[in-house]
Amino acid sequence: MSPSDNPPVGAPPASTSPVPAAAVPTAAAAISPLDDAAVSAAVAAALAAFAGAHSLDALKDARLAHAGDRSPLALANRAIGRLDATDKAAAGKLVGQARGRVNAAIAARQVELEAERDARVLIEESVDVTLPVERGLLGARHPLETMQERMGDVFIAMGWEIAEGPEVETEWHNFDALNFDPDHPARAMQDTFFVEPADSGLLLRTHTSPVQVRAMLERSAALLDEGRGIYVVCPGKTFRTDELDATHTPVFHQIEGLAIDKGLTMAHLKGTLDHFARAMFGPDAVTRLRPSYFPFTEPSAEMDLRCFVCGGVDPDCRTCSGTGWIEWGGCGMTHPNVIRAAGIDPDVYTGFAFGMGVERTLMFRHGVTDMRDMVEGDVRFSQQFGMEI
Ligand code: DAH
Repeated sequence: MSPSDNPPVGAPPASTSPVPAAAVPTAAAAISPLDDAAVSAAVAAALAAFAGAHSLDALKDARLAHAGDRSPLALANRAIGRLDATDKAAAGKLVGQARGRVNAAIAARQVELEAERDARVLIEESVDVTLPVERGLLGARHPLETMQERMGDVFIAMGWEIAEGPEVETEWHNFDALNFDPDHPARAMQDTFFVEPADSGLLLRTHTSPVQVRAMLERSAALLDEGRGIYVVCPGKTFRTDELDATHTPVFHQIEGLAIDKGLTMAHLKGTLDHFARAMFGPDAVTRLRPSYFPFTEPSAEMDLRCFVCGGVDPDCRTCSGTGWIEWGGCGMTHPNVIRAAGIDPDVYTGFAFGMGVERTLMFRHGVTDMRDMVEGDVRFSQQFGMEI
């Protein structure tokens, strides 16, 4: 559709000229090329018709009527040839000037109407870029991924490094170097996915703690030669032979932390975990350490959070079972045997370590009550969290 197909709202239709039909000379009303008054009337009628044309289509009609081959002035022009030689010059001048005025008027009106059309088109065809559009479905990041990044960021902000280790791990890194007894029950088949053949010495890591050993081995030279302390966190996947239910999944995530330096004490551990808890759960988070046992820490502790549902005051609270506290993870001072296994002297260097469940953190922080929601891959679950949690 060309722009001229759209007459302005309120403009008369192209076929209706505001000039009364009787005033428009037609071929039938032929005029003499010597008749000054008739020629002037034809010019006046033409100018009125052009002024009254409110669209380019209407102007085209008016041009055909007043300047076309069969218009009165064109016919008068043709009639000049039949005049006596003495009259030809005067008639030619009269009709020529008249046609010149008519053509100039058409051209001027044409310019006006085109400018009007262009201005109108600019408004009518403008695009409102603020209108909502239909977007394709984008999916969403999985909240466990976002949560691991967020937990890691708390430590990055304190100058710690992110460390990595393999998910298929050696038994030595996963157990021996962490001071597990050869007959520790966690090594038994019901907890650990071993990799065939039976003597491969490989397994799917049951926790992120083997990354402590790898981090110490990789960084011991910088520690011993340059005195650079080891401060690492490792978020990642872990595996145990659990059945999938509301509170267990065979593939889950932990974040491991390890600090090795001269003079580190339990106070540094507590301060670090307090900061971590406040960064994750808000400035009012309250923590406590409860004595516990892990082979790779001495002393060892469970790290509890004050129940954020009842605040520790409801004996019937279902979230904390009335204890007032919720277990978040394990921690402790790195066992001297573990430091020694990495070739570092535990009489010179001390350290602390901790490990938290990422799924547990997501459950506490966002009220997720069923682990299966995290593994079933329904995009509607992930979309509730967006790109940042
Ligand atoms: N690895 C332990 C687990 O999976 C958690 C843990 C406890 C990690 C104490 C630590 C620690 O670094 O010091 O249950």
